[in-house]
Amino acid sequence: MIELKTEREIALMRRAGQVVAGLLEHLCGLARPGVTTKALDEAARLYIRSQEALPAFLGYRGYPAAICVSVNEEVVHGIPGERRIKDGDLVSIDAGAVVEGYYADAATTIGVGTLTPLAQRLQDATRQALADGIGQAVVGRRLSDISHAVQQRVEREGFGVVRDFVGHGIGRAMHEEPAIPNFGPPNAGPRLRPGMVLAIEPMVTAGRHEVEVLADGWTAVTKDRSLAAHFEHTVAIMETGTDILTRRRGDA
Ligand code: MF3
Ligand code: CO
Repeated sequence: MIELKTEREIALMRRAGQVVAGLLEHLCGLARPGVTTKALDEAARLYIRSQEALPAFLGYRGYPAAICVSVNEEVVHGIPGERRIKDGDLVSIDAGAVVEGYYADAATTIGVGTLTPLAQRLQDATRQALADGIGQAVVGRRLSDISHAVQQRVEREGFGVVRDFVGHGIGRAMHEEPAIPNFGPPNAGPRLRPGMVLAIEPMVTAGRHEVEVLADGWTAVTKDRSLAAHFEHTVAIMETGTDILTRRRGDA
């Protein structure tokens, strides 16, 4: 069953979403050559605490950090550590926050310094795939319209869509129903309704789409070690349109 959220619940998730949006912007400013991924995690913990929110990832199924930082061939769930970011890296940062028990989850992929043309195209295609998916997250469409739009964009650009990880409903838990694959036929699955809140998150590879998890039990990398990118937003489906809860807005 997909739980429908009230206006009040969505307002709390919007607060959590704005913490995540501000955090990702903050971390993008810090991710320069020579910085370790662990330093980004430390900055994230301080930032989230300063916003009177809680880190959603820390301790989730034993996950040891507040954010995931996945560099180049790492797709998702990279554990912050001693790896130093260097010029030309494609760095995916995934973060979640909790406000009064309500979750928001978002990810972005940044290019550090000068990207290769391939890395640039991958970043752009993944960002656009998320936008296309969100474009289908409207009342009256069906769940797999999101999946299909993402896959169409990714494959039209000549890239691969990861199958082993999916987007998800979100609310009083980080992962709620439904699962949201980034591939599939159009016009299938549940009808989208006002009050549904979804975390849509395409994970895209420059080569083959298969991934494997490293011995640390978390870090997912492309099997062929090709580059990967990841963008995610938490969106609320409203009668009046789609509210991107994790989109950075003005402070007013
Ligand atoms: N955004 C990811 C997800 O939706 C991150 C969670 S994994 C964690 O599943 F363990 F780091 F929390
Ligand atoms: Co997510």
